[in-house]
Amino acid sequence: MSHPDIPLRGIDHVRFFVGNARQSAYFYRNAFGFDVIAYAGLETKTRHEAGYVLRQGDITFVLASPLSPEHPDSYRIIQHGDGVQDIALAVDDVPAAYRIATERGAIGVTPPTLLEDEYGVYEYASIRAYGDTTHSFVNRDRYRGVFAPGYRPLDPDRYSPRTFHPVGLKSIDHIVGNVEEGKMNEWVRFYEQVLGFSQLISFDDKDISTEYSALMSKVVQGGGGRIKFPINEPAKGRRRSQIEEYLNFYHGPGVQHIALATDNIVATVRALRHNDVSFLRVPRTYYEMLPARIGAIDEDIAELADLGILVDRDDEGYMLQIFTKPVEDRPTLFFEIIERHGSKSFGKGNFKALFEAIEREQARRGTL
Ligand code: FE2
Repeated sequence: MSHPDIPLRGIDHVRFFVGNARQSAYFYRNAFGFDVIAYAGLETKTRHEAGYVLRQGDITFVLASPLSPEHPDSYRIIQHGDGVQDIALAVDDVPAAYRIATERGAIGVTPPTLLEDEYGVYEYASIRAYGDTTHSFVNRDRYRGVFAPGYRPLDPDRYSPRTFHPVGLKSIDHIVGNVEEGKMNEWVRFYEQVLGFSQLISFDDKDISTEYSALMSKVVQGGGGRIKFPINEPAKGRRRSQIEEYLNFYHGPGVQHIALATDNIVATVRALRHNDVSFLRVPRTYYEMLPARIGAIDEDIAELADLGILVDRDDEGYMLQIFTKPVEDRPTLFFEIIERHGSKSFGKGNFKALFEAIEREQARRGTL
């Protein structure tokens, strides 16, 4: 059942609430290759928080930090640590999107609000999603400024010396939410009934990987397929669920990872490694089974093995992916880099393949 009557254009931006936005901006710039294009804070007469707008390809991140304990969101940092606060969706009509969503049962956080400066009018509203995460509805059709009122452009080359290698990230492929055990279907229904998303039935669903992954996952998509949100819940598997660990350390549901698409994952991962981004380790034995598991691909397997890039295949093609380590001290948010060659999957086959690769390594060491 779908209700496509809140036209969603796509993901406008992702807002992170962090302890020190200035330092986080440095990290996302020099490690992930984002340009820092705008700033709001004391110097721009924004008194309650500092904000940095980062851009790469079509991806916009906003990093915000409170400037006092009176900031309405300052408790988030004690509770969750750094993390994603808001996934903002671009819409045609903010008041209509907010009205329809709340009529269908969404909990309103910020009613439709107009912000105005000499560059025009910026409109937004927000509703609650899982945990303390929100979805804003944003419209900037009548706004010509760099991001939103309060923000001033920053010359990306003057923000700090360019020390990083160009990374080549293009767009947000998907954003994954972790929710409590037994809540996955409830949130799938929320996206279907409130936002008019539909469940993406993919090859992943047919494969029995729960015992290897220790998670259950369903994918909802909206905005004509431009917005994809997998929802995970913990499950009993062969190992302790990483979802359980996330929920413990984040103190509730939240965004687990953001997958960023590139046209050349080998070049992107080379640059990211050069910039000192840490990725999950992949056992060498994973690549021994790879040709038999996925068949012919364009990339050189030795090169993929060298960089730790994973491959998965479905009936429509293949995809390459790699996961960073968590980007904060708590084992919570991390990033995925993804390149798709026809495949619409999210890489579930890799749970089993990685599990078996680790077991083969253990068998060789005699520790299985
Ligand atoms: Fe993913």
